[in-house]
Amino acid sequence: MKRDINIAVLVSGGGTNLAALIGAEKSGDLHSGKLALVVSNKADAYALQRAADAGIPTAVVQRKIFADKAAFEDAILAVLDEHHIDMIVLAGFMCILSERFTRRYDKRILNVHPSLIPSFCGEGFYGLKVHEAALEYGVKVTGATVHFVNEVPDGGEIILQKAVEILPDDTPETLQRRVMEQAEWKILPQATELVAAKLAKEKDV
Ligand code: GAR
Repeated sequence: MKRDINIAVLVSGGGTNLAALIGAEKSGDLHSGKLALVVSNKADAYALQRAADAGIPTAVVQRKIFADKAAFEDAILAVLDEHHIDMIVLAGFMCILSERFTRRYDKRILNVHPSLIPSFCGEGFYGLKVHEAALEYGVKVTGATVHFVNEVPDGGEIILQKAVEILPDDTPETLQRRVMEQAEWKILPQATELVAAKLAKEKDV
C-alpha cells in the first residue's frame, strides 16, 4: 500500500489520543497516511515520549520563545514544511490557531473535542473543563466530536461524533476517561483514516 500522506500530530499533554493513532497505524486501521511527525508546545508533554517510543520524529515549539503568536505559528509551519506534512491532527493541542494558519491547511486539519459540538465547546472549553461543564449543566448524554479546524474555535465542519452516557456518580475525571475510551480513541483514528484516504485519492488523480 502506498503511504504518501504525511500526518503531523500536534499535542500538549498526555497524548492518549496520539497513542490511539499509533495503535491504529500498527493494526492497519490507519493505512492511508503515515504518522510522520509529532509537535508539542510543551517540552515536558508525555506525548513526546509516546512518539519517541513509536519511532516518530518529534519537535518542540514553545510559545514563550517567540515574540508573538504569528512567529510561534511560523515556527510550527516551518517544521511542518520540513517534514512535508499533508495533514494535521490536533490531539489535545491546547493552542488556538489563527486564520492565517488554518487557511494554509484548509480541510486538512482535524481536531478532537470531548463533547458533542455545539454543546460545551469554543474558547475556554478544553480538557476537564468540558466535563465539569457537562456535569454542572446536568446533561445525561455527552460524547466526542472530530471536526475540521477553521478560524472559529471548535467551529469547523463536523466529521464524526459519538455519544457517551453520563452515569449518576460521575466526576469530571471518570467522565473524561469514559469519553476517551468509548468515543475519542475510536473516532479520532477513524476520522484520520477517512481524511487521509480522501487526500491520497486526490493526490492520485
Ligand atoms: C482530550 O480529552 C481531548 O479531547 C481534549 O484534551 C484531552 C487530551 O488528552 N482536547 C480539548 O479539550 C481541545 N479543546 P490526551 O493528551 O490524552 O489525548
